[in-house]
Amino acid sequence: MLIDDREFLADPHAAYARLRETGPVVPVRDPNGVEYWLITRYAEAKAALSDPRLSKDPRRAASGLAEGVFLPMVNSDPPDHTRLRRLVTTAFSARRVESLRPRIEQIADGLVDEFQHGATVDLIDAFAFPLPVLVICELLGVPPAHRAALRGWAARVLQVGDGDSPRARARRLAAYFTKLVAAKRPLVSGSAHAQPDLLSALICARDGEHRLSEDELVQLCVLLLIAGHETTTNLIGNAMLALLRHPEQLAALRADPGLLPAVVEEVLRHDGPLGRATLRVATEDITIAGTLVPAGAVVSVGLAAANRDGDRFTDADRLDIGRSDGKHLAFGHGIHFCLGAPLARLQGAVAIGTLLRRLPGLALDDRAAQWLPTGLARGLITLPARLN
Ligand code: HEM
Repeated sequence: MLIDDREFLADPHAAYARLRETGPVVPVRDPNGVEYWLITRYAEAKAALSDPRLSKDPRRAASGLAEGVFLPMVNSDPPDHTRLRRLVTTAFSARRVESLRPRIEQIADGLVDEFQHGATVDLIDAFAFPLPVLVICELLGVPPAHRAALRGWAARVLQVGDGDSPRARARRLAAYFTKLVAAKRPLVSGSAHAQPDLLSALICARDGEHRLSEDELVQLCVLLLIAGHETTTNLIGNAMLALLRHPEQLAALRADPGLLPAVVEEVLRHDGPLGRATLRVATEDITIAGTLVPAGAVVSVGLAAANRDGDRFTDADRLDIGRSDGKHLAFGHGIHFCLGAPLARLQGAVAIGTLLRRLPGLALDDRAAQWLPTGLARGLITLPARLN
């Protein structure tokens, strides 16, 4: 079956509904001629995400995938994946993430301080885009003077055809982090836990036991920036659009800010930042829901499709912040489950909470919000809002 991004752009959820009706595993061909198997239902998607016969290494594909950006950990399988994930998890601890809360609040407030009251603001450009990149810079210990440049290089890596290729941008980021590692190394000492920032902790882990190559260290920084940036921008943008379009749920949230974590989870399920971007490669012939997927074939796990599966979620197309049948797949599942989920959840809650607290009269501008021109990611390019 040929899938066309235009159908996804017009209404991705209608497109996914049609594909779910076609079957749990649908052979598709995109307009570039790339063929893959799309998993459309929740049960099969969850099983595929933890199936060791499905590899994350694009080089194992029979054709077509090796041209993308290759990143350590996210594109590796055990035992390499296990080694890298353990190292980063230790440095990227829940304590380190929670300790960022006051700085995230400060950054969010600082961005709102720049808004012109009474004017129209693009919530993506002025808030949802800069916030995550500034937070990752804070996490990694990027000096404040370098942050504006990094913000430009990290721009919209998933957006195809916009300026530099994703590879060129990833190379520029890698060159920057190589220099930053060299500058930080003389300052790093002692145990990984005592380090002031994540990059220093990773340098310490690398130098202490030689379990990380220099190239892996640099590529991990690039990975954190790429994986943690646009996804979080999309979460904040999608959440604000959903709330502004559902005034009764917005009112409930304003009345009880304790609902913020539930709002973040429901937006992740209902209109999460990733569409069908999560790829695997079959390392042997595999039968999924009665369909044979041959060795070397590319499998795309449709996270957005699975999260609207009516067999798993009651009234799945409805945004309902009071829902208790949670457990969406927006952060994936299994050994590659999003490493940054606690940081994304924290940023989502702080961002939405700050906008609602600071801007009591916030309303959608008449001009329509614009979506990214790709079915891989799900996010807004602009979200004009009036600051009444
Ligand atoms: C992995 C989604 C934010 C870092 C993943 C995966 C998903 C995901 C679905 C699994 C991919 C797969 O199984 O193929 C999201 C969403 C986010 C978000 C929806 C925001 C709402 C972040 C942040 C960071 C981050 C803020 C870090 C700063 C990572 C890393 C991996 C990953 C390093 C690879 C983990 C591994 O392969 O073991 N993310 N992510 N993500 N994410 Fe996130």
